Amino acid sequence: MSRIHEALKKAEQERAATQGVAPQPPAASAPAAEQAVLAGTVADAAFPLAAVVQTAGMPNLSSQFGLETLLARSAQLEWRPEPSTMLFMNGDDNARGTEEFRTLRSRLYHLREKMALKKLLVTSALPKEGKSFTSANLAQVLVRQHGRRVLLIDADLRGPRLHLMLGTTASPGLSDYLQGKNDEFSITQRGPVEGLFFIPSGESIDDPAELVGNGRLKLLLQRVEPLFDWIVIDSPPAVPVSDASVLAKACDGVLMVVRSNSTPFDAARKARQEFPEQMLLGVVLNGTHGDVTPYARYYYEAYQKKASTTKA
Ligand SMILES: Nc1ncnc2c1ncn2[C@@H]1O[C@H](COP(=O)(O)OP(=O)(O)OP(=O)(O)O)[C@@H](O)[C@H]1O
Ligand SMILES: [Mg+2]
Repeated sequence: MSRIHEALKKAEQERAATQGVAPQPPAASAPAAEQAVLAGTVADAAFPLAAVVQTAGMPNLSSQFGLETLLARSAQLEWRPEPSTMLFMNGDDNARGTEEFRTLRSRLYHLREKMALKKLLVTSALPKEGKSFTSANLAQVLVRQHGRRVLLIDADLRGPRLHLMLGTTASPGLSDYLQGKNDEFSITQRGPVEGLFFIPSGESIDDPAELVGNGRLKLLLQRVEPLFDWIVIDSPPAVPVSDASVLAKACDGVLMVVRSNSTPFDAARKARQEFPEQMLLGVVLNGTHGDVTPYARYYYEAYQKKASTTKA
């Protein structure tokens, strides 16, 4: 009996034990799972459980195995977050800006009632509009809800910054996975925040556009998706380079960051055109100034029409 077949059988028995139903033989789904693994690379085949999750359609069963592997193999590191940008890591739950991220979180949960939503791409038209700041703080606010697991990915292979914000190492990471050098567990880090996992950008490379478009990112997301409640992906700006629109194809939705009093209207419109209408979840207006929160304020506008007409 193959390793995958054994895993499926064990998972089915565990489900039967917890749900009080008779175990079903996994024969019908095992061949599909095996084919998927065989079609993968050597590195994929060494860690088949996430592929089993995908192809056998039993996320609740096999994710338990994947989770154990994730906890055992991801690197537990001592992050040293930048207090000025990591709003939820400086010991003050009411720090300026935190409330706006809670609002953003609740809007996302509203959207999730109407559509399948887990993998979020954060982008903007131009550089320095707050994509990384938004990604990092969004991941933190999502994970603050009890029992949630969130994966933050730095997919800005041109100007990675999330590792600096979190105060950790940049590699191994995404670029190493995309080149086939590492598997998904060995590029994943955990820090001091329970439930928050991080995949940094990885070794610096010369051809980011080629790498993000080589199909392995989609594979990575398929493999880790069952293990997380949310996956937040930071990206390069959408107007100057094509990476973000390529990355979006592997995601469920796109959050567009617009820097208040900075992003030119034409650039924002052009960035919007880079994504299919149904991918756009809304706009995060970053860096507004007001009496209540003079330092940072965010406004999130959901495209309700879109949400009500997309996937159930
Ligand atoms: N609302 C905010 N309040 C305070 N600082 C902010 C805010 N938004 C962004 N910043 C800071 O501005 C700088 C640029 O932000 P960030 O790195 O998030 O932009 P970016 O869009 O990811 O840039 P790039 O295109 O270079 O990746 C960072 O130092 C970040 O900490
Ligand atoms: Mg950035």
